Amino acid sequence: MSRAVARAHPNIALIKYWGKQDERLSLPATGSLSMTLDIFPTTTAVELDPRADADTLQLGGAIAGGVPLERVSRFLDLVRERAGIRTPARVISHNTVPTGAGLASSASGFAALAAAAAAAYGLSLSSAELSRLARRGSGSAARSVIPGVAVWHAGDDANSFAQSVPAPAFSMVVATVDAQQKVVSSREAMRRSVQTSPFYPAWVTSTAASLQDMLAACRAGDFTRIGELTESNALRMHATIQASWPPVRYLGAASIAIFDRVAALRAEGVETYATADAGPNVVAIARPADAAAVADALRPLAAVQVAQAGPGVRLLGDDEAAA
Ligand code: PMV
Repeated sequence: MSRAVARAHPNIALIKYWGKQDERLSLPATGSLSMTLDIFPTTTAVELDPRADADTLQLGGAIAGGVPLERVSRFLDLVRERAGIRTPARVISHNTVPTGAGLASSASGFAALAAAAAAAYGLSLSSAELSRLARRGSGSAARSVIPGVAVWHAGDDANSFAQSVPAPAFSMVVATVDAQQKVVSSREAMRRSVQTSPFYPAWVTSTAASLQDMLAACRAGDFTRIGELTESNALRMHATIQASWPPVRYLGAASIAIFDRVAALRAEGVETYATADAGPNVVAIARPADAAAVADALRPLAAVQVAQAGPGVRLLGDDEAAA
């Protein structure tokens, strides 16, 4: 095959990945756990182009150069090296998630790119191998390969991949307060946390412990414990980030207002918990039966969408790809 199309969805971490132990191999300092969503898919086509002398990239209908093209091209080099093929490719990608706003567009983007590029260059990869490959594009992309709740193991190149985890059903209420591109990339902010945040060592040890507690809570189907661990891990990540220098702060006044509203809902008896990635937008988790009530309560504060557990990355057939 010299052309393939794949679709992947973003994931939101309940136990966050924040900080690398190896930048080149994109190996995380700790394991993390997320849910892949059923909304905001990215669809990416990769086509080998023997007449071209370099890769090209189209993002949302516009030709892209600079850093996005370099990142995609470096990623394709990994695939080409394994396939033993040097042909450049044309990459066409459509995102439905606001790009770079802390809603994991890089996760769906690199998961879709990994699957499409592997197929276009003729590699046949297992889910673990595909997750390892996606990890090299963007760490959190390792988890978007997997449907529903997934744990991404820390470790070395061979065993740092994501795997499915049995968990009770819950919904995610995505509250978008700002769809603008973030000012400091997660890559740069992670570096600053690792190098300058005095809280970083505590972040690593507490996250490793919280991941074990979270796996146990998922196994036990204990939504309350899942929620408590989710909110506390997010607040610890943002505290670690905010203690770096030069300063980075992703949560703004509108984000804090949502955390407060979520806490107030809990006090009123609606069990919901908040989390936020490297951006101002907030995601509340709730039991499926409570999701509509949480969405209604947050709607005056943000644009709200309700997500459930979604599929892992998959290749699209010709008819679906054309649609
Ligand atoms: O995969 P990256 O480099 O975009 O990092 C994402 C990190 C967070 O979204 C903040 C946390 C996570 O685990 O997804």
